[in-house]
Amino acid sequence: MKNKILGFLSAVMLLGMVGCTPAKETTETKTETKTETASGETVKVGVSIYKFDDNFMTLYRNEIESYFKSLNDGKTYEVTIQDGKNDQAEQSNQIDNFIQQGYDVLIINLVQSTSAATVIDKCASANIPCIFINREPEEADMSLYDGKDYEGKYTYVGADARQSGKFQGEIIASLENKGDLNGDGKLQYVMVVGDPENVDAKYRTEFSISQYKEVSGLDVEKLDEQRGDWDQAKGQEIVANALSKYGEKVEVVFSNNDSMALGASQAITAAGRTVGKDIYLVGVDALEEAKQFIKDGTMTGTVLNDHVGQSHTAVDAAVKAVNGEKLEKYYWVDYVKITPENVAEFLK
Ligand code: GAL
Repeated sequence: MKNKILGFLSAVMLLGMVGCTPAKETTETKTETKTETASGETVKVGVSIYKFDDNFMTLYRNEIESYFKSLNDGKTYEVTIQDGKNDQAEQSNQIDNFIQQGYDVLIINLVQSTSAATVIDKCASANIPCIFINREPEEADMSLYDGKDYEGKYTYVGADARQSGKFQGEIIASLENKGDLNGDGKLQYVMVVGDPENVDAKYRTEFSISQYKEVSGLDVEKLDEQRGDWDQAKGQEIVANALSKYGEKVEVVFSNNDSMALGASQAITAAGRTVGKDIYLVGVDALEEAKQFIKDGTMTGTVLNDHVGQSHTAVDAAVKAVNGEKLEKYYWVDYVKITPENVAEFLK
């Protein structure tokens, strides 16, 4: 009863506030599941995404929201999702506010993974569990509270980026000609990098090539490597430039993600080249459009970055933490190779 009265009073106060403040920016989404319980227990979940303007993270955050809605465990989850706008200072403010406002658990997709230690310390002082997603913190940071009270109250949920890089290398190495279109025993390639500060980008760049060499037994020649910030327009520009500079020498374009690969595909078409015939193109994420391109033959392959598995694991970890259960330090979700042979299974 007391809860109900308090709830009513705060609702009235909130309404009052809304009445006199300007409309909120649309960079925040708030969801409340309507599974009101006898006790009316409400769990406040604060989520900050490194930036909303990212195709893969948009799928991921939408899935976080809908999975929370689907939970039927008798609690009300009030989920606030904020846009970090690719600005660590902005995101740190959001985290400070979540903590000050007494949120019960945080799900954080860091702008800079090097900020993990600060965030962990803040959450530890406030004793609020924290689930890191997508951008893996340094191992040393993940071990900061080993043997201390806050151990088991923070975790990283992600996929091992080394695996996605290896899968990209294998996709090219298992082509009949191993991607070596000109038959000179070397793979001439262009690498489109996401964001070099991000381990996903680092590992995909490194392991796609090392695994290619290992599986194919061939050597490689890097023609170009440029940073495209996971962005389609930048991917297009990078590959257009590389194609005009190196022309038919380019045998393969490795892209750290599908958004940039979609841009690369536009550049390839514009340059009059044909994927599967005189060039190959591989990405990561398995965006719907990329899968369609694989089906149509305009992309050679991609690697599923399982946003459904990852978001559900992250939400499950958040719920566990709120219920006082101890978390593992890491939860890993597998990548899956997608090529023309199996793409039909993954298309919606
Ligand atoms: C990667 C994903 C990219 C981008 C990045 C953001 O895992 O492949 O498309 O979303 O995360 O950190």
